[in-house]
Amino acid sequence: MINKIKELSAEIDSLKAQTKDELEALRIKYLSKKGEISSLMNDFRNVAAEEKKEIGMRLNELKNKVQDKINELKESFESISGNDNSIDLTRTSYPYHVGARHPLSIVKKELCDIFGRLGFSIAEGPEIEDDWHVFTSLNFAEDHPARDMQDTFFIQQGIDVLLRTHTSSVQTRVMEKTQPPIRIICPGRVYRNEAISYRAHCFFHQVEALYVDKNVSFADLRQTLMFVAKELFGQETKIRLRPSYFPFTEPSAEMDISCNLCGGKGCPFCKHTGWVEILGCGMVDPNVLENCGIDSKIYSGYALGMGIERITNLKYRVKDLRMFSENDVRFLKQFESAY
Ligand code: DAH
Repeated sequence: MINKIKELSAEIDSLKAQTKDELEALRIKYLSKKGEISSLMNDFRNVAAEEKKEIGMRLNELKNKVQDKINELKESFESISGNDNSIDLTRTSYPYHVGARHPLSIVKKELCDIFGRLGFSIAEGPEIEDDWHVFTSLNFAEDHPARDMQDTFFIQQGIDVLLRTHTSSVQTRVMEKTQPPIRIICPGRVYRNEAISYRAHCFFHQVEALYVDKNVSFADLRQTLMFVAKELFGQETKIRLRPSYFPFTEPSAEMDISCNLCGGKGCPFCKHTGWVEILGCGMVDPNVLENCGIDSKIYSGYALGMGIERITNLKYRVKDLRMFSENDVRFLKQFESAY
């Protein structure tokens, strides 16, 4: 019996199968009820008691060996036939889902690019601020309503820590540390104590621009505004400046662009005026320069600030401000093709 086991063991080493049928034939030959292993098991009953231990062990080894060999053949066989059949070169590709940039990021990037071409670099500041950087340094009067709890989020009552209400605070941070020439834009998130609705939110985004140097004039500001408006909304865009008031600029203005929906003819979107407001701007108040350690007799500057949501609405007609922060993929997916 030992000889028979050795013979079969050698035979198993050289087993081969090309097709599934051949493999099945091998399985039947060795492992079926009437196969070689079963018949050896039958013979095993007649083995003398003193030989049972050794022969039993070898028989088990043989059985495992056949099983392993057949499995091995099966696997190699499957991987080969898998290569042959599993790739369907005529099939269309799986849909490829690309993520989309958030519309506010798209517009922020566009603004950074436009100002970048004019030589502005990007500056950032903290969202958690203090009264000095958000209000006092920017010439806000002691009793200005913006300092009120109704308008501004204070982190803790009685403590001078608050969420910035505008990105103008970054102006101060930069001017305190840098002497002119300064040419920066500051994109960022700002917070105001507003009830959330389709047209107001307790946080939104702004881009601030600041240029301080010798002999900076209102004409420079106007030229920059015209360039930015045309780059953003198209070369046919017109601008108009209306006198306004901000504590940190003197003189101050608000800028309208010709309605980019009706081209200035008048439509419900521009309330039939032909104009839509997009930003605030002005010449940096000398007090602000002095507060930041810049000599206002040598230097002058202009500043402007705009809401990114506002610009995004004008470009993409998003009717409800809340869409920007809800992260509904059905909304966000629509910006897949924008860069
Ligand atoms: N900080 C103003 C706001 O939040 C926007 C603004 C207006 C910024 C005029 C400026 C500016 O730099 O010159 O409404």
